[in-house]
Amino acid sequence: MDITRAHLEDWMRAYYFSADIDIGSSGVQNFSMAELRDLVGFGLDDFDRVVFDDSPSCGKQSLRQAIADKWGDGDPEKVLTTHGSSEVIFLIMNALLEAGDEVVVLNPCYHALRNIAEYIGCHLREWNLRFEDQFVPDIAEAKKLINAKTRMVVVNFPHNPTGATLTAEQQRELIAAVSEVNAYLVWDAAFSELVYESAPLPDPVLTYERAISLGTLSKAYGLAGLRVGWCFAAPELLERFVLWRDYTTLYLSPLIEAVAERAIENADSLRDFRLERARRNLEILAHWIGQHRQFVEWVRPKGGVTAFVRMHGVDDIEEFCHRLGQEQGVLLVPGSCFNNPGYARFGFGGPTADLEEGLARVSLQLNTCTAPYLDSQANQLTVGQEA
Ligand SMILES: Cc1ncc(COP(=O)(O)O)c(C=O)c1O
Repeated sequence: MDITRAHLEDWMRAYYFSADIDIGSSGVQNFSMAELRDLVGFGLDDFDRVVFDDSPSCGKQSLRQAIADKWGDGDPEKVLTTHGSSEVIFLIMNALLEAGDEVVVLNPCYHALRNIAEYIGCHLREWNLRFEDQFVPDIAEAKKLINAKTRMVVVNFPHNPTGATLTAEQQRELIAAVSEVNAYLVWDAAFSELVYESAPLPDPVLTYERAISLGTLSKAYGLAGLRVGWCFAAPELLERFVLWRDYTTLYLSPLIEAVAERAIENADSLRDFRLERARRNLEILAHWIGQHRQFVEWVRPKGGVTAFVRMHGVDDIEEFCHRLGQEQGVLLVPGSCFNNPGYARFGFGGPTADLEEGLARVSLQLNTCTAPYLDSQANQLTVGQEA
């Protein structure tokens, strides 16, 4: 069996590098080396101290310690560092899943969090986040999907692409339901610190021994190209993940580890710098949505820097996004990349001027391609008024 294509990556290959304006990505604007050095104080002498030795399989000890101190309980033995959280998702699923296992996944879903399990031959059971329910995760529905045959529950809150999240109480209920059947809980916390209405949720690894939580420098910290992610899990689980790492990337480069360690020591300033802007951008997007109600409907995201916007009057949203990329130079991601073709993912983590210009170009494209829809709406209104 071939692995299901990662449609989102196909889309990014087509437009991420060629579009002048990106209002589709899921992270904040990435930093340059000069900006990073300025913010975290990484000097030329720090570069000079790097020796290009091999590095330990679970990561350099001081980097693991920095991650454990910042986001964990201070124990570096529970940390594995990887090439982005993408690598750790691959390791976890290959190490812990077998054909025939039941795995609960979200729908919509970031492709890696479901497709690898599907390729292994697992039975996927979808926990749906529905627009009609304001994308509010229904814990009762999750409980119906979780049973004695469940091997793993894979979630990502705040969620890409919808921006939905759980309350702390819902998180406790979910952990209780997963622990009752002794399944693994994979908790993808890529966006945990990008929240607008509540505090970040606690790490489930602190309360459940079969939880594995994932972090990354790619989203909230503006360092996607550094390729540094990690997971927290019981040391026995990390040993199993490393068996797969021996056949993939072996370890992180000492150069990357040195930069990542300094970035993590200063993670709050990197995040605050961009979160502040994301808050402002969210208001700009909200205003634009309000002005385009005839075309778009949304659920205001509670976290992350993406909104999954329902579109009206556009017959084929993927085609619309292609034209937007080719004719307007704007990257927007069609919902088909998340198996939900009636939507588009808008990203608001970039520069404010880009968001404003990108939205203006989307307006232009909507006005040129939706004239028949607007006519039909106007006719319906006239009929309604006459009746
Ligand atoms: C929910 C989620 N998890 C994991 C990843 C992988 O990110 P990275 O490998 O850059 O850490 C992404 C990237 O978009 C994501 O959206």
